Amino acid sequence: MEKIRLGLIGLGLMGTPHARILKKVEECDLVAASDVDEKQKAVTEELGIKFYKNYEEMIGTENLRGVILAVPNHLHAPIGIACAQKGLHLFVEKPIAQSVSEADRLIEAAEQNKVRILVGHQRRFSSLVEKAREIVTGGELGRLVGVTITWALLKPGPYFEGLLSWRKEKGGGPILINLIHEIDNLRYICGEIEEVFALVSNKVRNFPVEDTASITLRFRNGALGTIFLSDCTPSLTSWEGTTGENPLLYHDFGNCYQFFGTDGSLLFPQMKRRYYSDPEKVGWNYPVTEQGYKMVREDPYIKEFSHFCRVVIGEEAPRTSGEDGRRTLEVTLAIQRSGETGQPIRL
Ligand SMILES: NC(=O)c1ccc[n+]([C@@H]2O[C@H](COP(=O)([O-])OP(=O)(O)OC[C@H]3O[C@@H](n4cnc5c(N)ncnc54)[C@H](O)[C@@H]3O)[C@@H](O)[C@H]2O)c1
Repeated sequence: MEKIRLGLIGLGLMGTPHARILKKVEECDLVAASDVDEKQKAVTEELGIKFYKNYEEMIGTENLRGVILAVPNHLHAPIGIACAQKGLHLFVEKPIAQSVSEADRLIEAAEQNKVRILVGHQRRFSSLVEKAREIVTGGELGRLVGVTITWALLKPGPYFEGLLSWRKEKGGGPILINLIHEIDNLRYICGEIEEVFALVSNKVRNFPVEDTASITLRFRNGALGTIFLSDCTPSLTSWEGTTGENPLLYHDFGNCYQFFGTDGSLLFPQMKRRYYSDPEKVGWNYPVTEQGYKMVREDPYIKEFSHFCRVVIGEEAPRTSGEDGRRTLEVTLAIQRSGETGQPIRL
């Protein structure tokens, strides 16, 4: 396969590791990157690629086929639209945009210019999520009854200080920054969410943003879900505390999700299915059988960027399309609104 010429816009906390990973992806050739902050030029020197302070100059001269957008959320739509108008396929970091209406404008621009969007929900490329989806959608648990998620951990003091103090304000908290990933996982594994209700609290830190939320979900297939979310408690029961996705965060390989079906349940990410193996001995007075699945843990980012290259050449449909990114954002924003209004929201 011919190497796909790519450029990257935004060499910050996310864009810098993305650039390093992209250099390892054999299907692509990352040739240039852009950041308004000239200090980020050092990253491009390290990688031997061209640096542009102005992304418009980069997309005008580098003969690219696609771009990776890792700029702040409010720039996803305007920069994405400008790139789409140049005929560039888009990898857009999550969330697809700041609002559903901006997401709509971006999707429309991509359609008009015949370019494809892949939204950066990398957990869809986790082998754990792929396996959970196969088990749930393949019927190994029977009909899905429900799912519970616990996402509880302690964000340390410096996470909120100095230049990062925007994280104390509305929109900077666990619902829009972290929960959006769990919502995307749930939509991918369990199906579409049609109703949400949330109780939120900021009573521990007393910042304007929430520190804790209790969320109820109804899926279109009739299953129900609950999520307990908190970033102010010493706990390892979270995606980060159990999967080891980010090696910099302490983790212990426990469980943070549980899927329940009429024929079995699944502990995640330990990937243990519990069921009754003898049809004559079913019910709470009998022991359950536990089946473990052997998992190979791979780097989801390498898989995600390889997939993006195949999306660019039209070989694969985006695993997280613009529409998917939009719907995940819509559900997450509805949870935030429900928390503010105290009302359930149907989508
Ligand atoms: N997928 C994930 O798990 C995950 C995790 C963290 C962040 N993100 C997303 O990644 C994106 C970037 O987040 P971050 O934490 O790296 O932010 P950041 O602030 O560290 O980096 C953003 C970079 O964009 C640059 N920039 C701003 N305007 C620009 C412009 N016009 N042209 C070129 N560069 C410009 C900034 O100078 C900065 O270096 C956000 O959308 C965020 O939501 C995703």
